[in-house]
Amino acid sequence: MSAEREIILVVDFGSQYTHLIARRVRELGVYSKIVFPEITIPEIKKLSPKGIILSGGPKSVYEKDSLNIGDEVFDYLVEKEIPILGICYGYQLIAYKMGGNVKREQRKEYGVANVEILDSEGIFKDLERKEIVWMSHSDQVFEIPPNFVVTSKTDTSPIAAFRNNSKTIYGLQWHPEVVHTKNGNKILSNFVYNVCNCEGTWNLSNFIEETVKNIKNKIGNGNAVIALSGGVDSSVAAAITEKAIGNRLYAVFVDHGLLRKGEAELVSKAFSNHNINFKKINAKDRFFKKLDSITDPEKKRMIIGEEFIRIFEEEARKIGADFLVQGTIYPDVIESGRSQHADTIKSHHNVGGLPESISFKEIIEPLRDLYKDEVREVGRKLGLPKKIIDQYPFPGPGLAVRITGPVTEENIKICRDASAIVEEELEKASIENIWQAFAVTLEDRVVGVVGDQRKFGRIVGLRIVESQDAMTANFKKLPWDLLENISTRITNEIPEVVSVAYFISHKPPQTIEPC
Ligand code: XMP
Repeated sequence: MSAEREIILVVDFGSQYTHLIARRVRELGVYSKIVFPEITIPEIKKLSPKGIILSGGPKSVYEKDSLNIGDEVFDYLVEKEIPILGICYGYQLIAYKMGGNVKREQRKEYGVANVEILDSEGIFKDLERKEIVWMSHSDQVFEIPPNFVVTSKTDTSPIAAFRNNSKTIYGLQWHPEVVHTKNGNKILSNFVYNVCNCEGTWNLSNFIEETVKNIKNKIGNGNAVIALSGGVDSSVAAAITEKAIGNRLYAVFVDHGLLRKGEAELVSKAFSNHNINFKKINAKDRFFKKLDSITDPEKKRMIIGEEFIRIFEEEARKIGADFLVQGTIYPDVIESGRSQHADTIKSHHNVGGLPESISFKEIIEPLRDLYKDEVREVGRKLGLPKKIIDQYPFPGPGLAVRITGPVTEENIKICRDASAIVEEELEKASIENIWQAFAVTLEDRVVGVVGDQRKFGRIVGLRIVESQDAMTANFKKLPWDLLENISTRITNEIPEVVSVAYFISHKPPQTIEPC
């Protein structure tokens, strides 16, 4: 990332809204980055932020294990007059650190509230005297720090917001980042533009230009290789790298025989008119042989991951590239930062575990600062086909984790054909807000009757979910007629199938992929 990009840091104290704050700031045209409370002064100096937002969080500032930003870091921000905005827990933390007082209220204030704005400076510029806001807190500031003024109150809280006299530090009891706070965007915009004096230079066209320049500088006259899966992230990473180095980019696309209907052709076609070295490796036999009789989902994942790496390693050696390009995106970076405390639910397959025997000068991750919808927007700007950009996320181990039994021609074919029907019918019905939609080949059988004859046939399960980030998901409540169409088409068009079921479990407890 270039040093001259203006940036607002969002310190994450564990609020469910932290990402929302970062998103809102970007939507206002300023680049934002989420950082952990352990951030150090040298890191801050390097990032040179125009301002800092302290997020909300579930704890109380007095709790022993509550998250806190180091005193010396906080003092540095205050001394250098880097503007600070504290939201909820962040607001209480400012009070606590600067000599105010916070106490736990018996009653939690949760939901929409009316506040009275007592100040028209800084973040409250151009706001109404009465505003509707979203509260969610149990602790409350009951004494402001010295050299601060109260800038808002409610019927129940005489102190609902404050600022310091020199107008560099602001705090809010409520959440400007959620849509229920009517003028929340105005408050954030005031902070970013009036208080932090940002210019608003963040947009995705600038991002493309800046990234292309950085990749050119890094790779120089060298060659780079990318493992292209055909998914959104690696496709966009390939397209942006191509813009920088053209045919010195080698894209390796492994067809393991576990892809969706038409996917291999779609990816090959999408990149055929690009100026990169595109190589499709037909490795179906290799994968099917290794997966023969394997039903344990984790074993399937391990075998596929390992085999993928072997093929990629063979190809990368032939190419002799110095650089490896990966489609890592911002949520991946944030998630891996936290994963040290997380349990392994599923071993996600990626190229992160490349063997040391292929050494690269550097790994380049052009999209590591972007959210998924920003990645999609970059892909659109780079002219990638809609079918690639708007596709549902697809796991690296492919259809192998969408069949509960072994990888056989029949199991994969049922899953592939039924999933294509699901996608077609949802598209026809213009159903929106779907995160993923696919069919699962189940191993159990049930008795059906086809053409007056008994048939002990196959069952297909439908997994169709809504989600924001795949961490949690809800099954989609679809119209019965649509489900009936899908079921009828599957049983009519796929002779092996006599029954279609719908998974009506959220995540948790069920995960999105069945295996
Ligand atoms: P689960 O099944 O854990 O999936 O609820 C969450 C999201 O991650 C995707 N997924 C994977 N992606 N390799 C991937 O690249 C994998 O092994 C893998 N397993 C799950 C899944 O499709 C969903 O979007």
